This record gives sequence, structure tokens and C-alpha cells, in this order.
Amino acid sequence: MKDVAKEDKPRLGKLLNDVRSAVTTALDERKAALQANADEAAFAGIDVTLPGTAHPIGTLHPITQLLDRTVAIFRRMGFALADGPDIETEWHCFDALNTPADHPARNEQDTFYLADGRLLRTHTSTVQIRTMEKTAPPIRIIAPGAAYRRDEIDATHLAQFTQMEGLYVDQGVSVADLKGTLEFFFRELFGPDAQFRFRPHFFPFTEPSYEVDIKASALGGKWLEIAGCGMVDPAVFEQVNTRRGDTAFDPEKWTGFAFGFGLDRLAMILTSTPDIRYFTDNDQRYLAQF
Ligand code: DAH
Repeated sequence: MKDVAKEDKPRLGKLLNDVRSAVTTALDERKAALQANADEAAFAGIDVTLPGTAHPIGTLHPITQLLDRTVAIFRRMGFALADGPDIETEWHCFDALNTPADHPARNEQDTFYLADGRLLRTHTSTVQIRTMEKTAPPIRIIAPGAAYRRDEIDATHLAQFTQMEGLYVDQGVSVADLKGTLEFFFRELFGPDAQFRFRPHFFPFTEPSYEVDIKASALGGKWLEIAGCGMVDPAVFEQVNTRRGDTAFDPEKWTGFAFGFGLDRLAMILTSTPDIRYFTDNDQRYLAQF
């Protein structure tokens, strides 16, 4: 433009503008035509007036829902989540938990053995040992997970079920702490009207040991045996010390409590499920109700 004579500038400027808008318009028209063709091709053969395919949003499994609630309550009391393998060594499942090979408790917890001698864990108490092997006290953990037994499958038994384990190790831990923790937990879960019975019992890995019965309107108002618990047996600490090669769990210094309970039966009661197999049949018509 700088070389154009002054009197020609307006005319030339207008001309250039006209060219630019002609090119732009042509480009836009072509783009729109191509897009229209592409849209037409995409919809070819599709009747957009037909109803679409529904994609229902899934629901969490009733046992998962119960598990999430239990984890949330224990978290409020400072318990951390811990984990361990489902395929376990005999030592983690039994020996370390003060249950030697000739102990009758092994009969009650028969399970599936692999050719190399490992087994499917019969309880989540194995995670107590797994945690103490790699962490020094104090310890405050919960371990939800699958457990396995060689049980006949019927309306109330499966070969795989779900347990929640807990372990608390610190200085000066007493039965009062154990009772307070479990009573708080179950009242949060089943309501303030829950009543408790701590019945003396035997577990190889706790001394003293108790079975906990609970009565709550949320659970049908009948006494139910709900959990096992007790004070960690010093023999368990000694097994862990030997494996660790130190005295991190000196039973003269540290005490602890442990507990374990199953989630399947509680989920059955809460959902009025008459047969435990409904939980694993994977019938969406049943499970999607919850
Ligand atoms: N492991 C036991 C079972 O499967 C439940 C249990 C009882 C766990 C007492 C514990 C405990 O930690 O202290 O039947």
C-alpha cells in the first residue's frame, strides 16, 4: 500500500477487502458442506426417533457397602487399613498365631492347600502377623478381606467369605480399651440401643479371649454372636520377635488387643437376605435393590 498513489488507496483498499471476504465466505461454505456430509454419513441407517439403550448406573454390593461403613467408623478412631495376601504360608495362618500343627483349632479351620504347602487363609488374622513383621509398635490397624474354609456350601456357608480383623498394640492397653472400642464401633454401626455380652472363650492367639454377642433392633432384636476378640497372647509377640530377629514386641513392654468378625452374616440380616448364595449368584435383579 505504501507504494500506491494516495488517490488510488481507497479504491485498492476496498478491492482487497472484497477479495478477502469472498475467500473467507467460500471457505466457510465449503467447511459447512463437508461437516453436513460427515453428519449425514454418521447418522446413516440410524433412526434417532427410536428409544436409546439404557446404561444403568451400578450399585455397590451389600457387603461392600457394609465394609465401607465399618472402615469409616474405625478410621475415626485412628485405625489404618492394612493388607495381606489371600494365599498364605501355614506359618502366618497358624504357627505365628500360636496354633501349632497338632492344635485342634486347625481342624475347625480346614482349608484349601496348594501343592507347595501354601494355603488359602482361613482368617484375616494373618494380617496381624504381616503387619507386625514390618512395623514396630504402636500399631492400630484394621484388615478387611476374604477368608476361605473347606465348608459345605449351603444357605449360610460359602467357601469364601469376608472378615474384618483389628489389631491394637501400645503400652498399657487393657480389656477396657478393647470393650470400649468394640462397643463404640457396633453402636455406631447398629444404633445406640445395642447391648453387649462379652463371653469368655478360647482363641489360641489371645489371652484372655471373648466372644461378643450383640442385641440391637437393627439386627432383629435377638442376641447374635458377632465377633471374636481378646488380648494378644504374649506367645504371638514372641513368634513375631523371633521372625524379626529383634525384641520390638517385648511382651513386658507392649500389650494389645485383637478382634475379628464376619461381614456376610451381618449383611444378610441388614438386607433380609435369606440365603448367602444370593450375594454371589450375581443376579442383578436381586443385588441392584440395595
Ligand atoms: N480369626 C478368628 C476366626 O476366624 C476371629 C478372631 C477371634 C480374630 C479373636 C481375632 C481375635 O483377632 O482376637 O474365627
